[in-house]
Amino acid sequence: MCGIVGYNGRKDALPILIEGLKRLEYRGYDSAGVVVIGQQLMVQKAAGQISVLEGRLEDAPGTVGLGHTRWATHGKPSDVNAHPFVDCTGDLAVIHNGIVENYQALKDELLEKGHEFVSETDTETLAHLFEDLYDGDLVAAVRAGLRRVEGNYAVGVVHKDHPSTIVAARKENPLVVGTSPAGETLLASDVTPLLGFTNEFQFVEDGDVVVLGEGTIEITDLDGRPVDRPVQTVDWSVEDAQRGGFEHFMLKEIFEQPQAILESLMGRITEEELSNLVPVEDVDKVKIIACGTSYHAGLIGKYILEALAGLDTTVEMASEYRYSNLARETALVLAITQSGETIDTISAVREAKRRGTTTMAITNVVGSSITREADHIVYTRAGPEIGVAATKTFTTQLIALYLIAISLGTRRRTVGAEQLRVLREGLRRLPSQVQQVLNSKNLIKGVAETIHDRRDVYFIGRNINYPIALEGALKLKEISYIHAEGYPAGEMKHGPNALLGPETPVIAIVVDDLVRPKMLSNIGEVAARESPVYAVGLEEDVELEKLVDVVIPVPRTNAIFSPVVVVVALQLLSYYTAHMRGCSIDKPRNLAKSVTVE
Ligand code: F6R
Repeated sequence: MCGIVGYNGRKDALPILIEGLKRLEYRGYDSAGVVVIGQQLMVQKAAGQISVLEGRLEDAPGTVGLGHTRWATHGKPSDVNAHPFVDCTGDLAVIHNGIVENYQALKDELLEKGHEFVSETDTETLAHLFEDLYDGDLVAAVRAGLRRVEGNYAVGVVHKDHPSTIVAARKENPLVVGTSPAGETLLASDVTPLLGFTNEFQFVEDGDVVVLGEGTIEITDLDGRPVDRPVQTVDWSVEDAQRGGFEHFMLKEIFEQPQAILESLMGRITEEELSNLVPVEDVDKVKIIACGTSYHAGLIGKYILEALAGLDTTVEMASEYRYSNLARETALVLAITQSGETIDTISAVREAKRRGTTTMAITNVVGSSITREADHIVYTRAGPEIGVAATKTFTTQLIALYLIAISLGTRRRTVGAEQLRVLREGLRRLPSQVQQVLNSKNLIKGVAETIHDRRDVYFIGRNINYPIALEGALKLKEISYIHAEGYPAGEMKHGPNALLGPETPVIAIVVDDLVRPKMLSNIGEVAARESPVYAVGLEEDVELEKLVDVVIPVPRTNAIFSPVVVVVALQLLSYYTAHMRGCSIDKPRNLAKSVTVE
């Protein structure tokens, strides 16, 4: 959701900014723009894809500049509403992620002073505000301006009279800065556009103002007092953030899952390693908060924590938790967010802390905002996920949940030595079992062929695979735009069966667990309404084969690990279905990778 990139060095800034914006495309956007400091500021912007912007670019010599991808909040996507915004003199330019909540009041005041506005955006207010406060000292003007802003921001500012300076600041929107060995200073919303330049980053924090000069980065607070932000190493490579021969990032990321799971297990699976994973003592209840796919991981986490650690666990959507009436929180709050930037989840963690509890977070991104909010962090090690639809971050979130539950379970003695051995063995087998599912891609493509022209699809499962039915439906709807619903199979007869028929396929999840007999009956009920039924089930399940149209085979796992193999089959099904429908798979319409607005 909105992306920022900035370059201050000796090379031509324009191609670097454009390349950086392309690496940020995955965050989701609807327009893009750049500014380069030359004799004048050269600003170009365009609604639509970055290629539209590229088509308009003229040569702009200059070695310092900013780029932006916008995801509309105030004002429709259009050329004029795209960033950067310049002030009335044309000398100062601003890019901004976030929302200026008091923009109307500021705008009215600036209009009265004679400033002329051209767009419908909140961000344009910042350009005029900084101009109004500017008396030759750009940093002072930005500081003074931001003190008057209510809302949130990651902001970048340049001025024609300060040709080797970029001023940036952050409040609740991600911003990272780094210096390359060649002395170039860089900023971006996340590390992906900067990976070719450096692996060492400083993560800017709320209230920080950063001045990027020639080879220097100074970070201060809004009052100009120096603040120390540690340099952190992110060991992702440029290749990790590229497609590597796959047609889409999503497909690449689905196929990376065996490796991602392996890496998420590494160094964490012996008894001693497990005991270090969760430094929290005396847990007796857990509350999981998350959004979207991470929420589905949380729903599975409930089954896992209850089964392995004997812990009462509830799961709430982060956007709802914040507004509940609870005065005191007594559960350990576990936030799950792959990006670490989802504002609802971050705000829910803050609220949980205010209610007096300890918080822990599972995230994939080192240095992301959640890592500064939660008391304890467990990283997934999925590598960068660029496709908007979460895939490898989801399966590695499940791995983190297994490890946390086993760690707590051994401490609470709900997991004994023999069970621990079995669980560890089961986890170790998961990478190769996921690979087995990936090897069935042609069969899954065949099922995609039969559902790709349907209007509605139902996903049904029970127990620990009920959240996987929800996840299968979410994945299908978000990338193929087919209406899909996930249901607990036992609930179908309480309403949704009315919608079944030959035109409405049902995808059923059946593994060898305590609910298998019930699932088979539920499939019978669905098939009796003439819906075609495709099952994700065990390869040797002859009984299931007789009941359904096709079985997508998954290997036998300990039932508690079955969501990991089942979901991979459903990810591939969504991918191929969306592909056959010609959808924009990596960047589905109206969606963003990192949801930094409430
Ligand atoms: C769906 C998807 C979203 C995210 C949700 C939360 O494929 O990716 O539903 O899961 O926006 O994002 P994070 O995990 O970054 O908090």
